[in-house]
Amino acid sequence: MTESLTFAAIPHASPTPAGTRAALIEKPDFGRVPTDHMVTIKWSVDKGWHDATVLARGPFQLDPACAVLHYAQEIFEGMKAYRTADGAITLFRPEENARRFNESAERMAMPVIPEELFLAAIEELVRIDADWIPAGEGGSLYIRPFMFASEVFLGVKPASEYIFCVIASPVGAYFKGGSKAITLWVSEHYSRAAAGGTGAAKCGGNYAGSLVAQAEAIKNGCDQVVFLDAAEHRWVEELGGMNIFFVMDDGSLITPPLGTILSGITRNSIMELARAAGHDVREEPYSFDQWQADARSGKLREAFACGTAAVVAGIGEVRHAGGSFAIGNSGDGPVTTALRDQLVGIQRGNVADDRKWLHGV
Ligand code: PLP
Ligand code: COI
Repeated sequence: MTESLTFAAIPHASPTPAGTRAALIEKPDFGRVPTDHMVTIKWSVDKGWHDATVLARGPFQLDPACAVLHYAQEIFEGMKAYRTADGAITLFRPEENARRFNESAERMAMPVIPEELFLAAIEELVRIDADWIPAGEGGSLYIRPFMFASEVFLGVKPASEYIFCVIASPVGAYFKGGSKAITLWVSEHYSRAAAGGTGAAKCGGNYAGSLVAQAEAIKNGCDQVVFLDAAEHRWVEELGGMNIFFVMDDGSLITPPLGTILSGITRNSIMELARAAGHDVREEPYSFDQWQADARSGKLREAFACGTAAVVAGIGEVRHAGGSFAIGNSGDGPVTTALRDQLVGIQRGNVADDRKWLHGV
């Protein structure tokens, strides 16, 4: 039975010494510091899920005709492990990542992985690399489960072999400016996703397609690109790697509806926390023209981006080909701050976890 696969452990010959690890954890660049281990599980049409292994982090050896290198059949997830004040290790809603991973798998014609196996693989890695979880404020262990087509062939069809892998990396703040409000660039030429496409899946191809727009954002002095819809180029969708919320002067929140965007676990959690705090939260289309008009008139008080990597980041300014506009006081507003404090408080064990979102490791 796949669900009860046991993980073989291949001993690590030279794990990182404690002193070196402490220095690496101190101020890591996002995703640049690898931990000592990784987990791999194989899948084939004949055997299903098999060969679950914990081994030293290292390169894959891939044939040049490995399917993922040609047709990009690849999906991934992003989640974090936290060290709470009492020394415990927690994951935030990892079952939601398992569910979304399998939705992505279905969209990309890949095999689904039993939720228990997905979670067991993550727990194995977090346990063995627990010393890599930064203890300081804002630090966490970013976990990257992913799966790719490993069959060696050049025909265009769903592969018959896959590798599921989990790697991890200690991280601090995603944006270089730390907690400073971010600046967005509205992409004039590029869209991220179209109806019927892969926008709702967390597949590598979505990110490859977004990079030229993100590069344009950086060239214009912005932190992130924000995409408008592909059909009318009118409706705000999401950022390159985050969802977006608008906070209006009546205390209500607006966030773009699902369909062509990623169903963010942070987005979903924020909606629940905001509703519980008495805010009216609407998932409805919001146009770029309306955004500009509301920012200018003061009807829009705050806006923020949210995601696992970025957490909750206030948006201070928006730039586009025709000019720019500021939002609120160009810093974090009170609603953004309160929601971030509550979310981070739950994740780090400082605020009661009434919804049972934390998963102990
Ligand atoms: N949108 C995109 C395109 C993302 O890459 C992410 C990050 O994973 C999100 C939204 C936010 O999703 P989550 O809150 O589940 O991390
Ligand atoms: C995440 O937040 O986990 C993502 O995958 C987004 C990316 C910007 C790292």
